[in-house]
Amino acid sequence: MKKSILITGGAGFIGSHVVKLFVLKYPDYKIVNLDTLTYAGNLENLKEVESSSNYFFEKVNIQDAQALNSIFQKHGITDVIHLAAESHVDRSITDPLAFVMTNVIGTVNLLNVAKEFWKAKLDKHLFYHVSTDEVYGSLHDGGFFLETTPYDPQSPYSASKASSDHFVRAYANTYGMKTVVSNCSNNYGPNHFPEKLIPLCINNIKNNKPLPVYGKGENVRDWLFVKDHARAIDTVFHQGIVGETYNIGGFNEWKNIDIVRLLCQKMDEKLGREPGTSEKLITFVKDRAGHDLRYAIDATKIKEELGWEPSLQFEEGIEITIDWYLNNQEWLDHVTSGTYQDYYKEHYES
Ligand code: NAD
Ligand code: DAU
Repeated sequence: MKKSILITGGAGFIGSHVVKLFVLKYPDYKIVNLDTLTYAGNLENLKEVESSSNYFFEKVNIQDAQALNSIFQKHGITDVIHLAAESHVDRSITDPLAFVMTNVIGTVNLLNVAKEFWKAKLDKHLFYHVSTDEVYGSLHDGGFFLETTPYDPQSPYSASKASSDHFVRAYANTYGMKTVVSNCSNNYGPNHFPEKLIPLCINNIKNNKPLPVYGKGENVRDWLFVKDHARAIDTVFHQGIVGETYNIGGFNEWKNIDIVRLLCQKMDEKLGREPGTSEKLITFVKDRAGHDLRYAIDATKIKEELGWEPSLQFEEGIEITIDWYLNNQEWLDHVTSGTYQDYYKEHYES
């Protein structure tokens, strides 16, 4: 095998798309998916590759340095693509410490283990850290996030991701580790856990349940199809310049209320409902605490320097996404049973 790549968080939404892309595109790489399988991790996301000879799964928590060390030894890990994280802003508001434990402590553990395991030839191995545009804060007066925009995280989630980004860069500067960081905007697509806006609305429209829009629905997010993010990660992993940061985004800004209305309209068509039926489900609810107003990524650098750009228009991506949820009821049933119901009641109905 040419490389043995540890992909953390590979059972989650984005991680599973990255694992599938790498396993299928690079049969001469060994792909080790390391995931502790929190509520957000789901091995059903990986059915297409689970029996591939270059795919391995390890159920390990990145907070456990000893277990991480054994995995590096067992698989002779040559490179890391790090996605494992607590990822939901609302959960970070109720339980910030869980985000510190995984996103900060877990990342530092992983850096330590990689540094120690690779110490003979630190310059031959890459630690790729996958991060978010939320570290840049909130845009209020126009403009875009550039790679040089100063960090200004506003939620416990983004503060924990910003901290992990700083640690990765500190390990490059202090110990000479080869690192690269990318910061991406909001992803959408198949396998997205239905606590996040788009899959939550698709699921609720299907079930005729209220669509909870925070505040006035005026907040703006910049949406990118998840498979395009996975393609960007492939590009950065293979062509990115060591020590650099790449912003990834689709130049595709939407107000939340407009996204929800679009989903209602598309779902009415697909479910054969009268136009306007699903919009009646829209319910304005209490705003998220400290709700960031607008995110917008300037993805010029990755386009000009590495030749990556999104392959799908939003209209196409959202069609694919809605169809996926309509055709994968079993997946939805599995992820929305049990603790999801408790979370939903606690967050939206109490
Ligand atoms: P997700 O919540 O769907 O998946 C996270 C995965 O990490 C899950 O499989 C979970 O089991 C695993 N995990 C969590 N804690 C762990 C631990 N302690 N040890 C091992 N595994 C653990 O998240 P996602 O939306 O796929 O995001 C993946 C990464 O991309 C995150 O780092 C996130 O910050 C970043 N990101 C996400 C978006 C987005 O729109 N979803 C955008 C930009 C960046
Ligand atoms: O920008 C990248 C980030 O995008 C990632 O780093 C995060 O991991 C990912 O969760 C996402 O964060 P957001 O907070 O932007 O995504 P979410 O889907 O939770 O919310 C999108 C917008 O919709 C946000 O303005 C809040 C709003 N919202 C969300 C939910 C869940 C609602 O109005 N109602 C809801 O029920």
